[in-house]
Amino acid sequence: MSTASVTRVDGPMVEVTHSGRLAMHELVEIGPDALPGEVVAIRDGRATVQAYEYTGGLRPADRVRPTGTPLTARLGPGLLGRVFDGLLRPLSGGPVWLLPQTPGGSLDGQRWDFEPGVREGQRVDEGAVLGTVPGPGPVAYRIMVPPGTGGTVDSIAPAGKYGADDEIAVVGGASMRLTARWPVRVPRPVRERRPADTPLHTGQRVIDLLFPLLKGSTVAVPGGFGTGKTVLLQQIAKWCDADVIVYAGCGERGNEMADVVTDLFALADPRGGGRLADRTVAIANTSNMPMMARETGVHSAVTVAEYFRDMGYDVLVIADSTSRWAEALREFASRTGMLPAEEGYPATLSSALAAFYERAGAVMTLGGARGSVTIIGAVSPPGGDLTEPVTAQSERFVRGLWTLDRDLAYARHYPAVSWSGSFARDALTIAAWQVSHGAPDWAADRARMLSLLAEADRLTALAELIGVTGLAAPERAVLLTARLMRDAVLRQSALSPRDGYCGRAKGLALAEAVLAVGDRLRRLAEEGRPAESFEAVDFGALVRVRDTAGPDDDAAVVTACDTVLAGLAAES
Ligand SMILES: Nc1ncnc2c1ncn2[C@@H]1O[C@H](COP(=O)(O)OP(=O)(O)OP(=O)(O)O)[C@@H](O)[C@H]1O
Ligand SMILES: [Mg+2]
Repeated sequence: MSTASVTRVDGPMVEVTHSGRLAMHELVEIGPDALPGEVVAIRDGRATVQAYEYTGGLRPADRVRPTGTPLTARLGPGLLGRVFDGLLRPLSGGPVWLLPQTPGGSLDGQRWDFEPGVREGQRVDEGAVLGTVPGPGPVAYRIMVPPGTGGTVDSIAPAGKYGADDEIAVVGGASMRLTARWPVRVPRPVRERRPADTPLHTGQRVIDLLFPLLKGSTVAVPGGFGTGKTVLLQQIAKWCDADVIVYAGCGERGNEMADVVTDLFALADPRGGGRLADRTVAIANTSNMPMMARETGVHSAVTVAEYFRDMGYDVLVIADSTSRWAEALREFASRTGMLPAEEGYPATLSSALAAFYERAGAVMTLGGARGSVTIIGAVSPPGGDLTEPVTAQSERFVRGLWTLDRDLAYARHYPAVSWSGSFARDALTIAAWQVSHGAPDWAADRARMLSLLAEADRLTALAELIGVTGLAAPERAVLLTARLMRDAVLRQSALSPRDGYCGRAKGLALAEAVLAVGDRLRRLAEEGRPAESFEAVDFGALVRVRDTAGPDDDAAVVTACDTVLAGLAAES
C-alpha cells in the first residue's frame, strides 16, 4: 500500500513525502486523476516529482501512486502513421489536438496480422526476428526477441490476428508479445557501433552539395525567428532516403505542427507509393501542451527511432526545436532551485544535449542487421544570438551544422543555409562514397563552390567600399559566377512543384554547369574582355532550368548550360 502523498505543488513540480519506496526516475501517478509524473530527486522521506500534465486541481495530501517502473515507451505495431504526445499516448480529436485525418485512439483492442518467421525448436538470440507484422506502407514491423533474452523457441503462434499484448511466442521459457516496452531514457543496446559510411540524400541541393550528412550522423540547425528551420526540416522529412521518419514537434506553435503533420499525412510517398505518413511517426508537444512532457518527447522520439533501427532500418529523427526542450529543462531547474549556469540553463544542459545526440549512429543490431539513427535538431536562439548556450553547446556534439542566415532569409534566398557559418564533418567520408558511386569530382566541385562563395563574399564587401566598377574584370567574373551559383543552384523553393526535391544527378549537373560557366567567364576576363560585355549575356536559361526541369532531369541542365556557353561564345 502506498504511503506517498503530495505536500507542495509549484507549476509542474510536485513535492511528495513518502515512506522510502520511491525510486529515482520512477514513474508515479499523482492525485485522483492519476497525472503521470517522474521522480527527479529524492531526499530522506521526500521526493520531487516532475508532472507531465497540468497540475491544476492538485491538493496537499493527494495520494501519489508508485508504478514501480521508469518512464517506459510501448513499442510495437501501431506506431507508424500516427501522432503521439511526448509520453507516446496516441493523440486524435480532443481539446488540444484536432487532426481529423489521423487515426488515433488507444492501441488497446486493435489487432494486427502476425506472420511467424521461426519454427519451434529453433534457437534464437536477442534481437532475432520472430516474425513480421505488415505496416500501413512499405515498412514492416519486425517482431524481435527483446534484448537480454533468447533461447529455444518453445512455441510460436500461427499466422493470424493478435492484439498488442497477446503472446506470440515462448522463447527459453519466456513469453514474447507483439509489443515490447523500453525505458525511454536508456539507449537500446546494439551488437556494435559501426562507422557511418553512407550519405543521407536529402534532396536539398545546398545540403547534398555543400553540407551533407551520413546516415547515423547528427546535425544542428540554428536559425533566428522565421529563417526557415521548420520548412527545411519538413522538406527533408518528405524527401530524404531514410526508411522511417520520426518527427518530434517540440514546443513549436500548435497550428504549425498541425499543418506539418497534415501535410506529411496528405503527401504521397515519393518512395514507393502509399502515403508518406505510412512510414512516419509524429510526436507532438506543441506550445499549448504541458511543458514538462516536452522534456520526454525527445527521448520518446529517439527510443522509437532505435526500435525501428533495431529492425534494420535507416531512421531519421527530426526535433523542432531543441531550444524549446532546453527551455523545459530550464524552467524545471529554476523551480527546483538548481544552481543555474549560463543564462539560467542548468549545468546539466550540456550533458542532456550530449546524451540526446549520442543516441544517433550507424550500428550492427543485436540481430546482426545494419541500421541507423540520424538526428537533425533545430535550434531557435533567442534574438538570433548564435553564442547563446543551447546553440553553442549543440555545436560541440554534432557532426554537421546548418546555420540559417537572417540576411539570406530576408532576401528570400531559401533554404537560407549560410555557406560561411555551416560545417559538415562528414564531408571526407562522403567524398569517398561519391567516388565509388560515380561522382569522382564531387569533393573537388564542393571545394570550388565553397571557395567561390567565400571569395565573392570578400569581393562584395570590397565593392561596398570602392564600388563594383573599381573591381577588375576577373573579380567581377567571380561575383557574377557566385550570383549564378546562388540563384541557379543553392536556391530551392519548397513550394516549387518540380524543384522542391532535387535528385543527385541534377544537383551535380547544376553545380558543374555553373562552375563551367564560371571558368569560361574567368578566361574571358583574363583575355581582357571588359566585364560589361559578359555581364550583359543572358544567363536566364541556366537560372530557370532548376525550376523547370524535373528532379532527375540532368540532361535538361546540360542543355541549358550549353545554351549559356554558346551565348558567351557569341559574345567573344
Ligand atoms: N525552403 C523554403 N522555400 C520557400 N519558402 C520558404 C522556405 N523556407 C522558409 N520559407 C518561408 O519562410 C517562412 C518561415 O519559415 P519557417 O516557419 O520554416 O521558419 P522558422 O525558422 O521555423 O521560424 P520559427 O523561428 O518561427 O520557428 C515560411 O512560411 C516560408 O514562407
Ligand atoms: Mg519553426
